[in-house]
Amino acid sequence: MRHVKTAFFCQNCGTQFAKWQGQCNACKQWNTIVEEVIEKPEKSDWKTETTRTKKTPIPLLINQIDTTKEIRLNTHDAELNRVLGGGIVLGSLTLLGGEPGIGKSTLLLQIALRLPYKTLYVSGEESQKQIKMRAERIHPSNNNCYILTETKTQNIFKQIQTLEPDIVIIDSIQTLHSDYIEASSGSISQIKECTTELIKFAKETATPVILIGHITKDGNIAGPKILEHMVDTVLQFEGDRNHIFRILRAHKNRFGSTKELGIYEMQGSGLREVSNPSEILISKKDDDLSGHAISATLEGMRPLMIEVQALVSTAVYGTPQRSATGFNAKRLNMLLAVLEKRAGFRLAAKDVFLNITGGITVDDPAIDLAVVASILSSNEDVPLKKDICFAAEVGLSGEIRPVQRIEQRIMEAEKLGFNTIYISKYNNISLKNPVITIEYLAKIEDLVNSLL
Ligand code: TYD
Ligand code: MG
Repeated sequence: MRHVKTAFFCQNCGTQFAKWQGQCNACKQWNTIVEEVIEKPEKSDWKTETTRTKKTPIPLLINQIDTTKEIRLNTHDAELNRVLGGGIVLGSLTLLGGEPGIGKSTLLLQIALRLPYKTLYVSGEESQKQIKMRAERIHPSNNNCYILTETKTQNIFKQIQTLEPDIVIIDSIQTLHSDYIEASSGSISQIKECTTELIKFAKETATPVILIGHITKDGNIAGPKILEHMVDTVLQFEGDRNHIFRILRAHKNRFGSTKELGIYEMQGSGLREVSNPSEILISKKDDDLSGHAISATLEGMRPLMIEVQALVSTAVYGTPQRSATGFNAKRLNMLLAVLEKRAGFRLAAKDVFLNITGGITVDDPAIDLAVVASILSSNEDVPLKKDICFAAEVGLSGEIRPVQRIEQRIMEAEKLGFNTIYISKYNNISLKNPVITIEYLAKIEDLVNSLL
């Protein structure tokens, strides 16, 4: 089987070594030396001798390339389709990362069970029985879903050749092991080699492959950064394990936008797609509480009404505490400084806590105005009216700045029954007779005057 030549390379400077060592002699970096395959026999990739085709790729004129054939598979999951940009591209490699226990295996098993194609779910982590038990919790069943528990890539490819699946799911890349490399599963060289073999398989057979990837303590996908360069799409499954919502985002997508967001709800019977997130993310409260404000944000192409909660209280210790969940803490400090300097609020001696409900992280600048409004409301202990919402960015000099696609935000607010939306004076609106009242603001003082 072997007859493979490997050598050890420094990942930092590229120097080659005959055997592994801790420090690179050339650049003096530690732990950068990794085994790589430098020569392997022709027949040693994913195919066996018999199926090897002699086709060598030839250059084609760009307008000769045929794109009329369907190049995307519908995953039958509206959220995943949206994040991928309309289905999974044939021959593509997708990497799904996420914290342990967030639901990666559940999501992909659920998709494998729903697909009307022949799917192969390869698990190196759980036994066939365990997977069957999980599948029983998630109802929809596909009679064409095969489960394989295997970690050696050569054996996986052997099964793939007899089964010829339309889509392959691997749980997880860190458990795979290729015979051509000595290193243990999960090491940089194994991950690289296994991914290379899978890419070759995917491209040559036009079969989409989805990989699950573990993440490290600091939230990056474990293994070499190069893994993210090798695959076509990197998806991240995130959310708070104690919250029911899970968010699927694309960090890299060669075939679509990376702005889209998929929202799921973890239930006893698998993940449910959330198609009307705004209605869920706004807490339905009866009594008026200060410090709550609702923002009309956009995630990708989708408008999302999000509730911001702030708590401003007198600092007990000398240094006031500032903490933000789901919102950039530096941006919160900037907004507090603007409120202090431009609107004369003395917030320097106060603790400020900010929370975006639902465990979501927002980076749309349009949430600024709602953040400011919730802080003002909590600071003065005056509840805001329940039927108002906000959509504008706040600048350093306290100016209320316009945001993109304001019409869409206004329409979403109107649809959900809001009476008033506060936006920037500089946003041009081309909506005809909106029912909702639109309040235009130019400076932060305008907001203070109209709310308090
Ligand atoms: P899992 O998919 O095993 O996570 P990962 O592969 O990302 O490590 O998810 C496990 C969690 O999901 C576990 O805590 C139980 C929960 N879960 C449900 O709440 N409902 C379900 O139907 C399933 C299958 C799991
Ligand atoms: Mg798992």
